[in-house]
Amino acid sequence: MPADVSVCREVTDEVVHAFGVLIPQLSRSNPAPTRAELEALVSSVASTLFVARVDGRIAGSLTLAMFRIPTGVRAWIEDVVVDEAARGHGVGEALNRAALDHARANGAITVDLTSRPSREAANRLYKRMGFEQRDTNVYRYTL
Ligand SMILES: CC(C)(COP(=O)(O)OP(=O)(O)OC[C@H]1O[C@@H](n2cnc3c(N)ncnc32)[C@H](O)[C@@H]1OP(=O)(O)O)[C@@H](O)C(=O)NCCC(=O)NCCS
Repeated sequence: MPADVSVCREVTDEVVHAFGVLIPQLSRSNPAPTRAELEALVSSVASTLFVARVDGRIAGSLTLAMFRIPTGVRAWIEDVVVDEAARGHGVGEALNRAALDHARANGAITVDLTSRPSREAANRLYKRMGFEQRDTNVYRYTL
């Protein structure tokens, strides 16, 4: 199942539909993005939306956020999800590889992500790809 990963630059009906299918497989608490939200994401300079296609159809997605801070250009990987029917065939790895390549090419010195321990497949994938667990506390302030 070779995956073709590309940067999503245009929000078509197919893209809106795909996120309606994918986001519920990632989060129960956050609704799928609207067309307007996807357009804001695709046109954002800080965020890069990747989609993975299998047999021409969108089977997964990942968003890379990049920003400059005093210690350099940093990047975060967020909202990684692969459609249940396409899992276990390297689509998630292909998405992460594309994001790491893009971050490297654009000057990022680190790429961070978080993943709950209960997300066994995700944690296994990230470790296999070379992400290392950091000794830090992760905090969130909910607005
Ligand atoms: C995490 C996710 C993106 C991986 O996508 P994928 O296309 O299946 O990824 P890959 O095929 O590249 O690799 C998956 C790895 O997880 C393993 N895996 C699959 N199901 C698993 C399970 N239930 N428990 C443990 N490992 C599992 C696979 O064996 C593979 O590891 P291996 O190659 O070392 O054997 C996908 O499972 C998913 O969308 N999960 C739900 C959303 C999610 O958890 N997103 C991550 C947020 S941090």
